[in-house]
Amino acid sequence: MAPLLKAESIRHSYRGTLACSVADIGFTGGMISAVVGPSGAGKTTFLRILAGLTIPDEGQVWYRGDPLYRGIRRRRRGRTACDLAGMVMVFHEPHLFRGTVRCNLEYGLRLRRTDWPSREARITQVAGILGLQDALHWQVGSLSAGEAQRVALGRALVLEPGVVILDEPTANLDPVNIRTLETALVQACSEWNVAVVMVTHNLAQARRIADRISFFDGGRLQSTEPVEEFFCKSSTGKQRAFLEGDAVG
Ligand SMILES: Nc1ncnc2c1ncn2[C@@H]1O[C@H](COP(=O)(O)OP(=O)(O)OP(=O)(O)O)[C@@H](O)[C@H]1O
Ligand SMILES: [Mg+2]
Repeated sequence: MAPLLKAESIRHSYRGTLACSVADIGFTGGMISAVVGPSGAGKTTFLRILAGLTIPDEGQVWYRGDPLYRGIRRRRRGRTACDLAGMVMVFHEPHLFRGTVRCNLEYGLRLRRTDWPSREARITQVAGILGLQDALHWQVGSLSAGEAQRVALGRALVLEPGVVILDEPTANLDPVNIRTLETALVQACSEWNVAVVMVTHNLAQARRIADRISFFDGGRLQSTEPVEEFFCKSSTGKQRAFLEGDAVG
């Protein structure tokens, strides 16, 4: 199956230091890809480039076959008019709008002028998956961190995205909220054929829900392997050290 999202020959530096180098990787619907690696390895930079938020110095990202970035020469680089409506990003810190949980879940659907019955059906479905049925009328200011992150994911999922990109979505959440988010991602992936790309520092989480793991180190994508291979035969010394460091810490 052709990948929904594909990155090719990406290079991006800050102040002359390489922050992200990726030769070639694709993401298909129905697959959860975890992105792991030490702090400063380039994971967030990579996600931002995938989502069209950071224009890379070199390389191209293809979404549904269309390029995200213009030109090769740096001074002419910029975003194309590629329609990113089916791609959503969820950050570590949920950025919610003021108002109720329902307002937040409804916002994108209203922008898209989705009719009321379809809106209601989708909100009910997504709120159900995320355990937010009873919270729809709550003000977001009163939510716990776990509830707020569930709303942030819900706001993304109501839009029926093709790709969901998440940067450490469960950092600092308690185990119950972590499991709820994980279950929702697995369900979105398997039932709605979403391509999930998720940075996590939680290797147990990657093992639980990911199909494959990409390992970043020193600003470079070092490897992408099926999840069991990643844990069974760490192919590089750095990867092994990273895994062992996690086990100790
Ligand atoms: N906007 C920026 N300006 C300057 N340097 C940046 C910027 N964003 C990232 N960097 C640098 O690029 C490198 C990669 O950062 P990035 O945030 O992608 O790492 P990361 O793997 O997500 O780390 P963490 O696990 O701590 O979130 C780091 O050295 C960082 O300091
Ligand atoms: Mg990061």
